[in-house]
Amino acid sequence: MSGLTQWLNRPKRPRLSVPSMWIPRRRERPERVVVTGAAGYIGNILTERLLEMGHSVVALDRLDFGDAAIRHLLPHKRFELVNGDLRDIDVAAQALRDADAVIHLAAVVGDPACAAHEREAIETNRQASGMLAKLSRGLGVRRIVFASTCSVYGSNPLTVDETSELNPVSLYAETKIDAERLVLECAAPTFSPTALRIGTAFGWSRRPRFDLLVNLLTAKARFEGRAVIFNGDRWRPFVHVKDIARGFEKALTAPHQAIHGKVLNLGSNAGNHRLSSIADVLRRLHPQASIALEETDDRRNYRVEFGAIERVLRFRALTSLEEGIREIDSKLAAGLVDDYRQASYHNVLWMEERRLEQADPAHDAVDLIRLQRVLADHSVAPAERTPAA
Ligand SMILES: NC(=O)c1ccc[n+]([C@@H]2O[C@H](COP(=O)([O-])OP(=O)(O)OC[C@H]3O[C@@H](n4cnc5c(N)ncnc54)[C@H](O)[C@@H]3O)[C@@H](O)[C@H]2O)c1
Repeated sequence: MSGLTQWLNRPKRPRLSVPSMWIPRRRERPERVVVTGAAGYIGNILTERLLEMGHSVVALDRLDFGDAAIRHLLPHKRFELVNGDLRDIDVAAQALRDADAVIHLAAVVGDPACAAHEREAIETNRQASGMLAKLSRGLGVRRIVFASTCSVYGSNPLTVDETSELNPVSLYAETKIDAERLVLECAAPTFSPTALRIGTAFGWSRRPRFDLLVNLLTAKARFEGRAVIFNGDRWRPFVHVKDIARGFEKALTAPHQAIHGKVLNLGSNAGNHRLSSIADVLRRLHPQASIALEETDDRRNYRVEFGAIERVLRFRALTSLEEGIREIDSKLAAGLVDDYRQASYHNVLWMEERRLEQADPAHDAVDLIRLQRVLADHSVAPAERTPAA
């Protein structure tokens, strides 16, 4: 008998059936949280934060960039790593065992990586996200917080909010829009899905990324004494990686009724900057460096309204663009990164290297028959489940 079959057949946890008004407050605070993509740029910071807040964390990650960012957490008694591919239903089901909540970060991330690896991007970002939400609901998980992106707004001359028309200009953004829909349509009385549309991330992480605009330009200014910023008049909603982690933590612990079925932009109004603002900070930081502005035909331009997340989750970003740039620069000055051009700091380059090393294994995220079987094996009558508060 496989390990999966064994735990699916285990005695079920007794579940209370009480009206939602009687549910004690602590039920709003999920104990056991699955974080997909926990070893990534955002995931490791979020995981550390959740452990500090007293949650148990199951990290589901196939360690594309190694385990360096979470290795220090391995001895933690409330931390568990499931090293595997999210697209494999059995791996996902193993991670979801007894989970109260899921934060779904794992993805093929960024426009270039998705354009270069279309099939993997569609399978991971779209199909596996839908599968994960269905599986979570079927296995008695009570909420899922999905990592979407503000790039779903694409190019728009106006300030956009959650009700604005979506205008994706990349496969990456398209897969995220589809995944939002698939995740949100799993909403049920016992299951609350939420999508957070993350702004343009920057800042230091144990898994540094130098394919992010701010981080890359900061490294170029320090190491090469020159950086070119394209289309300085375009807007982006910048948000620091630690603030992103705080936003997810707030969505995880908010009352169900506040976040049930909601889409929220994750960032702050003060974080909307023209790209030329990066040049201003870099010129102050490295007056001797040449920081140039040039024009291209890149259409991406978006300025985002973040009032909803402030009202719903009382979320406010704490770290400014300038503080984040100075932080990255100080880490580089301290020698924490030997060569920022290394492929492992750039998602698309790293995927290319990995592809040469290993054939892509077959996965069954699209195997709906298998999904039905896993859910049927574990079926819990709706009345046995505790309703979401
Ligand atoms: N960083 C940003 O600027 C930004 C902005 C908006 C949205 N987001 C979203 O936030 C999430 C996290 O982004 P990040 O910057 O931390 O990315 P990242 O590339 O640093 O991390 C992604 C992690 O997911 C894992 N992963 C990928 N495919 C997997 C699979 N099939 N199975 C298991 N694990 C898998 C990788 O091993 C990696 O550890 C993504 O969903 C991304 O779309 C990020």
